Amino acid sequence: MREKIVAGNWKMNLTKNEGLLLVDGVVNGLNTADVKVILAPPFPFISDTVSKVEKTTITVAAQNCHQSESGAFTGEVSAATLQSFGCDYCIVGHSERRQYFGEDDTLVNEKIEQLLANNIKPIYCCGESLEQRQAEEHFEVVGKQIQSALSGLKREDLLKIVVAYEPVWAIGTGETATPKQAQEMHGFIREKLSQVLRDEAENVSILYGGSVKPDNAKELFSQKDIDGGLIGGASLNSTDFLAIIHSF
Ligand code: 13P
Repeated sequence: MREKIVAGNWKMNLTKNEGLLLVDGVVNGLNTADVKVILAPPFPFISDTVSKVEKTTITVAAQNCHQSESGAFTGEVSAATLQSFGCDYCIVGHSERRQYFGEDDTLVNEKIEQLLANNIKPIYCCGESLEQRQAEEHFEVVGKQIQSALSGLKREDLLKIVVAYEPVWAIGTGETATPKQAQEMHGFIREKLSQVLRDEAENVSILYGGSVKPDNAKELFSQKDIDGGLIGGASLNSTDFLAIIHSF
């Protein structure tokens, strides 16, 4: 059985007090152990967040890492450092990293290798732009992303990856993919994974991301191949984030 997962990606938001209050709100309000909850705060929060969730089922993700083991890369953070601070997961391939920092799937593939070598599970994001969806290229685009980012990975490593389908046109726009559109793509992604993993593709969690809110989470999460969500805006408010988690 694959895990149900709801991950909160804070992106570049919140000051120290705001962030720590948010973690407390989630820790105190969580009333299920059936859903794996992951918090992905900015780097400076990681240590405190790990301490605060220590006695809970919640785990912590980073939002990025460098592809090299260590070295002279001012301003970057390595997977080994993240691991030593208690990060279990790391987001890679997010469309904002692709769009604003020029990251492509070759680089994402290197980051994934680095994370796996340091026992951190990658949350691999993929998804098409509005133009690509309108040109009906979305399956081709996502298929290629998956193929190049996950190429060369061993079977057992592939099974450690969480995939997040985040159509770019739905991120932060208030526009959500319909449950049908999302399910179609999730089914396609699982099919792609099954070319390597066969039946074990059933064990990979595939999350949907893009304007998930308390009022649309339930219907999205009830789709056969949608195993949870990667939540941006709504994860900055513990009431909304908890409502999304509890909508499973
Ligand atoms: P929103 O939920 O704000 O649309 O962001 C989604 C996202 O990018 C999560 O990584």
